[in-house]
Amino acid sequence: MQYDGFIEIVRNRRSIRKFKPGPIPDGAIEKMVEAARWAMSGGNAQPWEFIAVKNPDTQQKIVDLIIEQDKYTWDIERTREKDLRHTAFRGGHSSAIESFQDAPVFIVICGDPRAVQASVLITHFLPNEGGPFAHFLKNMANATQILHLAAASLGLGSMWVSVNSTVEPRMKALLDVPVELAIHTVVPVGYPISVPAPTYRREVKEILHYEKYDRAKYRSGDDIYNFILRLRGRMTAAYPEET
Ligand SMILES: Cc1cc2nc3c(=O)[nH]c(=O)nc-3n(C[C@H](O)[C@H](O)[C@H](O)COP(=O)(O)O)c2cc1C
Repeated sequence: MQYDGFIEIVRNRRSIRKFKPGPIPDGAIEKMVEAARWAMSGGNAQPWEFIAVKNPDTQQKIVDLIIEQDKYTWDIERTREKDLRHTAFRGGHSSAIESFQDAPVFIVICGDPRAVQASVLITHFLPNEGGPFAHFLKNMANATQILHLAAASLGLGSMWVSVNSTVEPRMKALLDVPVELAIHTVVPVGYPISVPAPTYRREVKEILHYEKYDRAKYRSGDDIYNFILRLRGRMTAAYPEET
């Protein structure tokens, strides 16, 4: 019974990219953060902190920064084969990603990389751990995922807006985030205008191996190439039409 309720929330959560402007219920922000704080973190470092932004002027400044970020993303995206470009950029510099601007709340997830020193030191230099900042990002991603699931459990929509280093320092200045911290993600939250159809996932039998890696399931370079090509088609429905 517990698994049924859990998997229903996990399966039905969708990235929502267009929102109704109306408010979300009192207490919803606290409930989402209450869930996120229980995320796993290396050494229980818990580097995360959350800034709930409702002020329309501040929200607009965040949207403007993301629009600027999209221009940098497009500069890189345009250098690759057209059919392989991310779906959000299929028509050129995207207007799709900024469609989240009507969300009544933006939860800006930031964190303190210094806290990651709570974990074993070896994670800071072993290549397969990706270095100290990778460890920070893993912790942050865990909390972000749980926050999204909590939003879904409350009947709310949310999306994951990546924040890259081209605009992150200015977003930090806007929100008075101390220099030692890093902004990880912006999560707009609100009621969805519509819920997209379920997105594609690889089947359990394709990704689950028993005892050792089943070479029959190995994907060649061509398989990966074709996988990404098919993904692009499948993702189209998830992105709002450009305006
Ligand atoms: C690390 C990461 C970065 C992402 N960045 C963005 C983003 O910048 N903009 C966006 O619209 N969605 C972003 N997403 C959401 C994915 O596109 C989405 O989860 C995926 O297409 C599956 O769709 P679903 O969430 O509706 O199941 C991101 C997700 C992750 C985990």
